[in-house]
Amino acid sequence: MSETLLEVKNLKQYFNVRTNVGKFASLKAVDDVSFDIGRGETLGLVGESGCGKTTVGRTILRLYEPTAGQIIFDGEEVTKKNITRMRKQMQMVFQDPYSSLDPRMTVEDIIGEPLDVHKLYTNKKERREKILDLMQTVGLNAEHATRYAHEFSGGQRQRIGIARALAVNPQFIVCDEPVSALDVSIQAQVINMFEELQEKLGVAYLFIAHDLLVVHHISNRIAVMYLGKIVEIADADELNDHPIHPYTESLLSAVPIPDPNITRARKRIVLEGDVPSPLNMPTGCPFRTRCRYATERCSAQCPPLTDRGTRHLVACWEK
Ligand SMILES: Nc1ncnc2c1ncn2[C@@H]1O[C@H](COP(=O)(O)OP(=O)(O)OP(=O)(O)O)[C@@H](O)[C@H]1O
Ligand SMILES: [Mg+2]
Repeated sequence: MSETLLEVKNLKQYFNVRTNVGKFASLKAVDDVSFDIGRGETLGLVGESGCGKTTVGRTILRLYEPTAGQIIFDGEEVTKKNITRMRKQMQMVFQDPYSSLDPRMTVEDIIGEPLDVHKLYTNKKERREKILDLMQTVGLNAEHATRYAHEFSGGQRQRIGIARALAVNPQFIVCDEPVSALDVSIQAQVINMFEELQEKLGVAYLFIAHDLLVVHHISNRIAVMYLGKIVEIADADELNDHPIHPYTESLLSAVPIPDPNITRARKRIVLEGDVPSPLNMPTGCPFRTRCRYATERCSAQCPPLTDRGTRHLVACWEK
């Protein structure tokens, strides 16, 4: 087991939002989430749209001030005071490489910005060398340094975004659906690059994605989120082969498997009903309104995440 790099403890992120009747309400985007990530490890984070994945990533980097909970990085709590220093260790790559990069900035300016912010060079020449090095690391042609972001394709823009994240030499990167906006043909290339960078640099990832196949491929462990809570977290193969939570089961049943014998064995489970609004959460277990195993206990009390052995944690009363 790798040494712990990041600990997230009982993290909560509630947003104050105005409802359609004009009143304010608390939207529980992330509700009591805990996990840890080891050095050089990848934790995959999956779940339906709106379940809180991006909010977890952004709150870890304190792009949002947490409502409650702790983020401990390399033994030190991340606070408002030390966040500038901490950002040298923790970076983020965003989902949409079109909106996350300023199209009027050159590649050189985009990658150079974090170098400027953290004063990571002594002279112009060194700055330029670092930028060209980073471009090479992510497979960008050095001759393109003076071109503008809008001149590049989605895949290339994502490489620029990754070079920018790597500029400060971080130990941890939140990768927020970094390939879902890209053409399928480009996705594998970019995923491979994330893996190669990890091998070379030993960086740890929180890898957010919709696609369980992608997550299974890249992750050491996987956490499954539903309505602001983690419902299951386990080793990637263990979760894939022996899912316990009914929600994880249904997610996995939708993943196509190349082997026709297995496909037949794994029956497709279609969930009934819609995801409840995070403004109007069910009592007890958040998944119970769509769960075929739900009992009275599930409406009365929210099940805690409990270890079912070998670090396989599940939040369910009935399974
Ligand atoms: N800044 C904000 N203010 C108010 N509500 C927000 C804010 N950001 C997110 N939310 C709400 O919090 C919930 C979780 O959103 P989040 O973007 O984290 O989900 P997600 O799992 O990343 O979804 P997707 O897969 O679509 O990216 C949603 O209900 C969303 O509407
Ligand atoms: Mg998101």
